[in-house]
Amino acid sequence: MKLIATVSLAVLFLHPALAVKLPRRDTSTVYLHPHAATGSPRGAVYFMTNEPTGNYIIAADVHGDGRLSLNRAVATRGLGAKGVAVPVGPDALFSQGSVKVSASGEILAVVNPGSNTVSAFAINPRYPSALSMIGEPVSSEGEFPISLAVSDDGKRVCVLNGGTVNGVNCFSVDQSKGLVPIPNSLRYLGLNQTTPANGPPGSASNIIFNDAGSQLIASIKGFPPAQGFLAIWDVNQDGSLSSNFTRITPPQPSDLPFSMTIIPGKDALLITDPGTGFDIIDFSAQPQANGTAGGRSSAVAIPGQSATCWSSYSNKTGNFYLIDVGTALVNEVHVDDNLKGTVIHQYSQGQNAAPIDNDVATINGKDFLYILAANATSINVMSLNAPGQAQLVQTLDFAGTLKGAGLAINPNNVQGMSAFAES
Ligand SMILES: *[C@@H]1O[C@H](CO)[C@@H](O)[C@H](O)[C@H]1NC(C)=O
Ligand SMILES: *[C@@H]1O[C@H](CO)[C@@H](O)[C@H](O)[C@H]1NC(C)=O
Ligand SMILES: *[C@@H]1O[C@H](CO)[C@@H](O)[C@H](O)[C@H]1NC(C)=O
Ligand SMILES: *[C@@H]1O[C@H](CO)[C@@H](O)[C@H](O)[C@H]1NC(C)=O
Ligand SMILES: *[C@@H]1O[C@H](CO)[C@@H](O)[C@H](O)[C@H]1NC(C)=O
Repeated sequence: MKLIATVSLAVLFLHPALAVKLPRRDTSTVYLHPHAATGSPRGAVYFMTNEPTGNYIIAADVHGDGRLSLNRAVATRGLGAKGVAVPVGPDALFSQGSVKVSASGEILAVVNPGSNTVSAFAINPRYPSALSMIGEPVSSEGEFPISLAVSDDGKRVCVLNGGTVNGVNCFSVDQSKGLVPIPNSLRYLGLNQTTPANGPPGSASNIIFNDAGSQLIASIKGFPPAQGFLAIWDVNQDGSLSSNFTRITPPQPSDLPFSMTIIPGKDALLITDPGTGFDIIDFSAQPQANGTAGGRSSAVAIPGQSATCWSSYSNKTGNFYLIDVGTALVNEVHVDDNLKGTVIHQYSQGQNAAPIDNDVATINGKDFLYILAANATSINVMSLNAPGQAQLVQTLDFAGTLKGAGLAINPNNVQGMSAFAES
């Protein structure tokens, strides 16, 4: 019986007229929302499944009240991977920035850590959950790519590789060819790492452009005796990078620089540190002779913190939102004109939720914080009503819907969060 079935299938495949009629499921896009949504969406948020059998971007519509509904899963045509950590838990890449959107460039870029590639998509601004791949996934020219920096205009993308072959590499975005390597932008860090990376200590964390777009900054966690540091390259007009990087170390006792968020108008960064809380790095002053950040730089302890690793900024409240995966708290931080940082409020995301990556989007003149609650397989939506007055308005569990659609999903693999909103 089995043999006959095999033979007849073979015949079908061999007969060209019949072969095309065989039902074939296109798995590059999986629709999660079969019925038309009410009203047109105001934006979308995206994260990645990071599955080793195939990475998918999950896109959810953002509605006028900031709330979400799942829309679709789009194959990145690359593979996910998980770093080696004890104990095993969420945050597979030890990173922030694995999925990045440029609103002005109307593009999305995503790392494929298991296939050492980066994929880019065009975002349809009228229906932002609809993504179309531009070009082909390109080699990151390193191993275990974990984080992306996208320039403000969306015309350049740089990747941070965190594996055995580690460093940075940049691409220009061509709307038809996709990501095109920029000559003289492949630079090595020389970390003693493995593929996949071991961490969190000693692993690469995050990559960003500075406010002016004139520097590319990567953060690297310490692993005694190696100190944690920021690696800073100058970006030339043509997008190439300085041959060497400048090394800045955060003020002690901080040693695990993780996410970096620009402090607007200050030539300064807020950096999360899972060992202590967060750091403020003041670039307006010279570093000290031993490379420690100078001026008004500081290390700020968050009492009772466990692993403060992710951050974003709201222009409406003027505050920063720092995520602690261990305590499952969002810490709202105010940084004053003198670069003094203070925790002004804490918001629970629910015990065992393990919140990780997050992003802020402005919808109808109001800011919302979108948080990937990895262990709860949910996206938590917080309405940032005013400073110190954020409110959890939705918990969207995605596990059931994704599994129902035949997609693999694992709390310990999911990563990234980036929002697109119409301005
Ligand atoms: C690299 O790391 C491994 C594992 O931690 C360690 O055994 C080895 O000595 C390190 N090599 C160098 C050159 O530091
Ligand atoms: C970069 O570093 C190498 C090795 O330390 C050094 O020889 C070279 O002069 C540096 N290049 C620049 C442009 O600073
Ligand atoms: C760097 O120098 C400053 C000022 O002398 C000192 O406070 C700090 O501990 C030094 N850092 C390291 C890592 O030695
Ligand atoms: C942030 O808010 C200020 C005023 O509060 C405004 O001038 C500025 O354009 C805003 N920036 C962005 C990026 O929305
Ligand atoms: C994830 O959830 C499980 C079951 O609720 C819990 O035992 C575990 O501690 C949670 N992990 C994290 C990192 O919160």
